[in-house]
Amino acid sequence: MKSVVSLRELREERKKLPGPVGLVPTMGYLHAGHLSLLRQAGAQCASVVVSIFVNPTQFGPQEDLTTYPRDLARDLEMLKAGGANLVWIPTPEVMYPPGYQTWVTVDDVTKPLEGSLRPNHFRGVATVVAKLFNSVQPDKAFFGQKDAQQALVMRRMAQDLNFPIEVVVCPIVREADGLAMSSRNVNLNPEERRAAASLYKSLQAAREAYENGERSASRLRQVALDTLAQEPLAHPQYVSCAEADSLQELDQVEGPALLSMAVFIGRTRLIDNIVLGR
Ligand code: PAJ
Repeated sequence: MKSVVSLRELREERKKLPGPVGLVPTMGYLHAGHLSLLRQAGAQCASVVVSIFVNPTQFGPQEDLTTYPRDLARDLEMLKAGGANLVWIPTPEVMYPPGYQTWVTVDDVTKPLEGSLRPNHFRGVATVVAKLFNSVQPDKAFFGQKDAQQALVMRRMAQDLNFPIEVVVCPIVREADGLAMSSRNVNLNPEERRAAASLYKSLQAAREAYENGERSASRLRQVALDTLAQEPLAHPQYVSCAEADSLQELDQVEGPALLSMAVFIGRTRLIDNIVLGR
């Protein structure tokens, strides 16, 4: 496994890789969720490139850029054990050199949910991933359903900008109590960690209602909210039941629906989702 920083080194090493090439973009502090993307990339591609870059442009001014967890030595060990062939760890100066002023914005699908609460977040994500796509030139790119809206934005961008890249979306990897794995989970103290299981619990409660025939989106949202309300440390920011591709809020669930939420547990903001009817 090679690891490189500069764009020149990346291009040199990329040329040597047998195709098809899979790309797994990450912000590091890797966990089993990231490794599942790596495994999927390894199963579908001859070579796997992983990028590690805590992308400043996707963090809002009040968000956790400076405290975002980092452990490069551990990440590199995990990637080596996981079979990555090339790791790109650009610095902020490599990605955004002085004078930088070009942005990628995706329109409708970035507006609701995360986009409505985190202005410019998806502009930062789309821009950095477009740069990763252009630099690495992978055949496939692997994203997690954990960030469901991000995955839709990536699909849209790849299609709209004619990137010859297949976007592959992989299932959410969870802890034993259902908590979706996330680099941010380390910020939870033991009491908060216990409370964090309420997200998945509330999604499961809504799924059960759905399976028992409930099709009213507002009642499904309410089932999830009622379950969250049983956990005093959980402070929901939104609970959504939206059409799975457009992310438009639903009245009735008729086709596939994304049930998603953002919940503060203490100062840590967690997101989770399930898909109903697919
Ligand atoms: P990061 O949060 O490091 O996540 C990297 C990839 O891992 C994303 O596609 C994310 O959806 C996936 N992932 C995270 N937790 C997961 C879990 N529990 N199960 C399955 N997949 C999971 O998402 C980003 O970084 C950034 O926005 C990035 C795309 C790298 C652009 O900066």
